[in-house]
Amino acid sequence: MPITFDATSRTFHLRNEQVSYLLRVLENGTLGHLFFGGSLVEAGSYGRLSGGEFLGYSNRAAAPVPHEYPTSGIGDYRVPALVATQPDGSTALDLRYVSHRVFAGKPAIANLPSTYVQGYGEADTLEILMLDTPASLEVRLFFSIYSDRPVVTRSARLRNVGEVPLTVECAMSATLDLPDSEWELVQLSGAWARECQVRTRHLEAGSQSIGSVRGASGYQHNPLLILKRASTSEENGEAYGLSLVYSGNFLAEAEVDVYNTTRLRIGVNPEGFSWTLDPSAEFCTPEAVLVYSEAGLGALSDAFHGLYRDRLARGVWREAPRPIVINNWEATYYDFDEARLLEIATAAQGLGIEMFVLDDGWFGRRDGDNTSLGDWTANKAKLPGGIEGLARQIEALGLRFGIWIEPEMVSQRSQLYADHADWVVGVPKRPNTESRNQLVLDMSRREVVDHLFGVLSDLLGRAPISYVKWDMNRNITEPFSPSLPAHRQGEFFHRYILGTYELYERLTRAFPQVLFESCASGGGRFDPGMLFFAPQAWTSDDTDAIERLKIQWGTSLCYPLSSMAAHVSAVPNHQTGRVTPIATRAAVAFFGVLGYELDPVALSDEDREAVADQIAYYKARRELFQRGRLVRLRSPFEGDGNETAWMTMSADSSRAVVGHYRVLNQPNRGPSRLRLRGLDAKASYRVSVWPAGKDPVSTANSGIRGGDELMRVGLLVASENPVDSRRVGDFTARLFDLEAQEPAGGHA
Ligand code: DGJ
Repeated sequence: MPITFDATSRTFHLRNEQVSYLLRVLENGTLGHLFFGGSLVEAGSYGRLSGGEFLGYSNRAAAPVPHEYPTSGIGDYRVPALVATQPDGSTALDLRYVSHRVFAGKPAIANLPSTYVQGYGEADTLEILMLDTPASLEVRLFFSIYSDRPVVTRSARLRNVGEVPLTVECAMSATLDLPDSEWELVQLSGAWARECQVRTRHLEAGSQSIGSVRGASGYQHNPLLILKRASTSEENGEAYGLSLVYSGNFLAEAEVDVYNTTRLRIGVNPEGFSWTLDPSAEFCTPEAVLVYSEAGLGALSDAFHGLYRDRLARGVWREAPRPIVINNWEATYYDFDEARLLEIATAAQGLGIEMFVLDDGWFGRRDGDNTSLGDWTANKAKLPGGIEGLARQIEALGLRFGIWIEPEMVSQRSQLYADHADWVVGVPKRPNTESRNQLVLDMSRREVVDHLFGVLSDLLGRAPISYVKWDMNRNITEPFSPSLPAHRQGEFFHRYILGTYELYERLTRAFPQVLFESCASGGGRFDPGMLFFAPQAWTSDDTDAIERLKIQWGTSLCYPLSSMAAHVSAVPNHQTGRVTPIATRAAVAFFGVLGYELDPVALSDEDREAVADQIAYYKARRELFQRGRLVRLRSPFEGDGNETAWMTMSADSSRAVVGHYRVLNQPNRGPSRLRLRGLDAKASYRVSVWPAGKDPVSTANSGIRGGDELMRVGLLVASENPVDSRRVGDFTARLFDLEAQEPAGGHA
């Protein structure tokens, strides 16, 4: 059992081969945090690691004791985990230990997504019951440790055990106190078409935070906070990652106090939040996932990838090879009819593509973005046989069929709005702010969720639909639900997400064979909460290969290859106007779930041949590209950002594909080598270069190479000869395919 309890010092030790998490019931019954980091031996009492009782910044103590779930008003003064207003208006809370239990497995969280276990022994859980007696507020803290991952998950369940309502103003999923502040904070920040840019800053005295108040996690900041030492690299050094399994308003914060200790907290954003807890009612926080690595950011990402790919994503598509899609959005936008779609599908099928995805514009009178959201019936002028007729014809071509929907939204020009204007999010007597000409449906209302389930299950039930792209193209303004009383309006944002999760849950349960992809104008809701329902997400509306290097690199800090949809699109690129070689576009999109978002009918013969070759290449390595271990080699966020390199490899390191990308060609730059990682130093690998060519880089690398040579000397990625480099051009990419040779275990 990886959780032990030392009754003398009342210390809990959650432990596996990679991490230890230590906490202690202090003498006065508060819960002190002792340690989270690399694995400590299971030896006796670690109670000595903390003072006997929680003292706060009182006149009896210099610095306060690290706290497991800090509350406000009792002398801690740092950012709290829990704030609740009591009937007399006071907010001080002092949680004291009541009892605990340890059990095998990991409980689900009511109505919220969370990581899970599948077999006996995968994880164990410590549940600690705390009580604030004057407020009659019970708090159950859950700590789960996976037996073979450097991961501890946390959540809290509050319960009002009194007779009068309480108002919860803040209920974090986790806080984590660290003894020093010599850390850099890494965050993934961005904007539409520029998601997940890696930003790094030194921690400073005071608080530094990221968050969202938009009703979605947002592309402004991903719900992830990483701390690393200044010296931590991809392969060495300490790092902590805190990730929130949630898709709504969040806060992730680091506070450095006067003693240079650091408190991290992550959870539902207290801004705009309050929750009335009636007698006997409960409130569950979302799950926080805490990862520790002492082998750099690479190992931190490995832990997130494995957990989110295998124990957060669910259903048949968790492991099934994901199809290569053609999506008609950038080929046609709203301007299509059945004949045009079938023409695209026929050409795509000839290239080896496996699924046709019909994007926006198929329903109501949708010829632009200002109408028909909510009216999920086919536009008969465009699709005379309806979705069913089109889907059957697509299937007859040998492709599967997928469809775009945006269920949470409504256009003012729609039948749904005419019938149910009262279902829209908005404050009575205030004008609704439109964004992308659309309004948001009030997902906190049962009748809205029921209606959408009815309409969408009818659609999915009638036609052979194998895939759903669930889009969400605007954030919430005028947050208000007429179905909630005034004192519960602070619950709106959380209830909105609970309603969205409920719709996802009902649809994915009813249609387990359907592959769901989440999307929010690209990566505007690319978060762990969504991955529980939709195992892949549209990473960004920006399909430019060069922009995608940064976007996919940043996204990969937390999210696995299997979650990142990446498409090859036409040039000039529709977002940047950039013209990149088709091989480069593919070499970037290969690292994830590949698709095409262009008009295959319009391809030149040369490009058509190239695309068919790309698809064959990808199919032969699909497992590596979708489920391999990603090793980041050269960052687009470092130096001049001109080069990026990464590789994906099999678990036994016998297969790998390395991608190397150069943005601008540079004259006379001299030779350059790229050292690989994670290979078997004793193995011999057959190296082949894609696209195949007779240039010096291809010739220099192709053939049998030792794993030791590939890791210690490296691949040649720029030629020594300045004449050669003149022929290379800008925006280049090369893939190096590595295959260990039999017999393994040695090379000449
Ligand atoms: C935004 C998405 O990210 C795009 O891929 C596309 O589906 C459009 N919405 C359609 O309106």
